Amino acid sequence: MEYIQSVKWEQDALVLLDQRLLPTTVEYVRLETVSEAWQAIKDLVVRGAPAIGMAAAYGLYLGIRDSKAETYAAFAQELDEQSAYLASARPTAVNLTWALKRMEKKAAEHSELPIAELKADLLQEALAIQESDEAACRQIGEFGADLFQAGMGVLTHCNAGGLATGKYGTALSPIYIAQERGVALKVFADETRPVLQGARLTAYELQAAGIDVTLICDNMAAMVMKNGWVDAVIVGADRIAANGDTANKIGTYGVALLAKAHNIPFYVAAPLSTIDPDTPDGSAIPIEERDEQEVTHGFGTRTAPEGVNVYNPAFDVTPHEYITAIITEKGIIRAPFASSIRELMV
Ligand code: MRU
Repeated sequence: MEYIQSVKWEQDALVLLDQRLLPTTVEYVRLETVSEAWQAIKDLVVRGAPAIGMAAAYGLYLGIRDSKAETYAAFAQELDEQSAYLASARPTAVNLTWALKRMEKKAAEHSELPIAELKADLLQEALAIQESDEAACRQIGEFGADLFQAGMGVLTHCNAGGLATGKYGTALSPIYIAQERGVALKVFADETRPVLQGARLTAYELQAAGIDVTLICDNMAAMVMKNGWVDAVIVGADRIAANGDTANKIGTYGVALLAKAHNIPFYVAAPLSTIDPDTPDGSAIPIEERDEQEVTHGFGTRTAPEGVNVYNPAFDVTPHEYITAIITEKGIIRAPFASSIRELMV
């Protein structure tokens, strides 16, 4: 199967598939500065937790490649400043800071090297982050696919597919691997208001992969479950707290409640880079609020009266009690999540 690559390093530049234009236009943008990378993350040119981590790692390299620093101390200071700048682009997905910290750690480990070599090492580290994400997603798919049998109905929210990661995705990876194994599933994709990642991205990439996908509006999920068409829900994550509480795209919490009411298993699929042991529970996860225009101009034209109050959180937190299992590259963990996460992270 052909997978679409949304983040690439090509000819000394960060090349991103502009995800805002999908599904009607497939266009890549070429970024050569750290501020262009920051803006691309902020504006959702690149989105999805692992993908913004990868873009930030390349962005950090762009931020220091022309550094004139002559000592490690001066170089490390610049690295730290650029890292903090990139981290400020979006607050919720921990993969962003995870990738930046991994880059800074790499530099610290090789502090004795000449600055030019250090810079080259950092580019290699950004490439390694992308490679390891691809491997993690593949492994998530292998574990997750074991949960599915042919003909099952699977509902997903937002886009946690190949577009959001190095390859395969997190929530969509088990669906792709199931297909590779000859296990055909019937997927329901929530459209995912207000930015429509489900309609624009999930429906697009699943359809391109030849997977049976049915697009529904978010408010149809209850009906589809009531009809008995959903055997499992699978979603990605932007940050999993130490107790298993999970931040993901706004609306995920509602889907978890619906799944509980209909006795349907609710799976979260995410790499270890999405687990944040330093965040004790969901109440400590920072939730990004985005521009009100995403809500008032949902379909390109104004769809709400001028001056109306708008609340636009980009994510919500699903309490761990509603999560049947978390699928990671190291295996599938279940409740009690506080201890299963602790064991997983050693
Ligand atoms: O605002 P977005 O599109 O970056 O939100 C993305 C999600 O919520 C995804 O489900 C999550 O990042 C997991 S991507 C593998």
